[in-house]
Amino acid sequence: MARTAKLTFDDRSIDLPIVEGTEGELGLDIGKLRSGAGLITLDPGYGNTGSCTSEITFIDGEKGILRYRGIPIEQLAKHSTFVEVAWLLILGRLPKQAELDDFRERLGRNAPLHEGFKHLFEGFLADAPPMAVLSAMINAIPCFPHTSRDDESPEERAIEDAARLISKVRSIAAYGYRRARGLPYLYPDPKLGYVANFMHLMFSCPYRQHEASPEMVDALNLILLLHADHEQNCSTSTARMVGSSQANIYASCAAAVGALWGPLHGGANVAVLEMLESIHKGGVSAADAIKMAKDGTGGFRLMGFGHRVYKNFDPRARILKAAADKVLAQLGVKDPLLDVARQLEEMALKDSYFVDRKLYPNVDFYSGILMRAMGIPTNMFTVIFAMGRMPGWIAQWKELRDDPKARIARPRQIYTGPNETDYVGIDQRG
Ligand code: CMC
Repeated sequence: MARTAKLTFDDRSIDLPIVEGTEGELGLDIGKLRSGAGLITLDPGYGNTGSCTSEITFIDGEKGILRYRGIPIEQLAKHSTFVEVAWLLILGRLPKQAELDDFRERLGRNAPLHEGFKHLFEGFLADAPPMAVLSAMINAIPCFPHTSRDDESPEERAIEDAARLISKVRSIAAYGYRRARGLPYLYPDPKLGYVANFMHLMFSCPYRQHEASPEMVDALNLILLLHADHEQNCSTSTARMVGSSQANIYASCAAAVGALWGPLHGGANVAVLEMLESIHKGGVSAADAIKMAKDGTGGFRLMGFGHRVYKNFDPRARILKAAADKVLAQLGVKDPLLDVARQLEEMALKDSYFVDRKLYPNVDFYSGILMRAMGIPTNMFTVIFAMGRMPGWIAQWKELRDDPKARIARPRQIYTGPNETDYVGIDQRG
């Protein structure tokens, strides 16, 4: 029998249906709340609000579980690649070999940017924030011609659109990096895979091709894969929100880049590195940083700690911590920031403030150390997060747009401003 919850308010009472997910998560369907009881819900920050049902990603924050299309993140991290995971997220199942080969071919074919992009890049100052450049350039992609076959099925068209976006974003990220350094733009190398090509586009010289070591390619693959989706977070909800007005996928993902940029979301990976550097250089001690975070001094938080959903270790952080240890050992790099990070983590995990609030390291705590070891400058960290998150945004946008019942997202509010007030002419204002 369908389960319901009874809501009684003044002299009215309504039964609201309970929706159950495949992992037993329960939600109260409030679709009839306004018409039935004259109420709306108020939930700033949406901590108790489900904006959709989704088949893409499952998180159990209490247990520290993350699965893409049902597959545990640990298995994907061990056996899969970013490109395969992108296909999995967007199409809903693991690809067959021919499908993966086709996707790789599409990624390769879409890698070059139209020459007109160069003029757009030239318009930015060298120190323009890379996330601003990324967002602007994603919006610009559909301004340039794209040839696709007329006889493609809707699924083939979706794959081509996804490949175009995922591939172009990589080239845009690398061009942004080169523009900031006054380096000449390079063409993608069709022989290279997604990650190696990105490293080539960033680090090669016109006279000497950068050859990324397999360890570096694996590490970046892992970073991208671990960031590929995270259900209804701030940037993904933004992509869905914009997409709900039937804006195109480029406008929706460009808006998501803006949401990701903030230090409470994807920008945290930059903030973590700045915090670790400041502690290392003696600006503050680790103990002081913990104290400031507890006091909330000047709004300071321990960056890379805490999560809206995880009330346990973020499984991505666990994987990245192990990867950082491995890569630094392989490279023979001794990064003092890793020691500072370990010290902070140890102190925080013993401190009742963090323990009581269930604040654990999140994905951003170790990703920066790993990227730094790979020679990626700090201001590119959030851009790389965005490259990784692109398949998630695309998959979630597609799920929304394929849903015949989807409506434009339009939350309500409880107005708390002045009651009706007459306009007063400027000469009569006190
Ligand atoms: N340092 C110190 N205190 C914290 C922290 C932190 N990093 N995070 C949360 N708290 C405290 C907060 O002050 C509050 O305390 P009290 O109950 O005494 O008022 C309590 O913990 C709950 O915090 P909240 O702000 O209500 O939690 P939220 O769910 O709204 O925010 C968060 C989640 C991730 C924005 C927050 O934990 C935070 O600001 N963390 C630092 C930034 C960060 O690392 N962001 C990356 C998130 S993971 C990547 C991604 O998916 O975006």
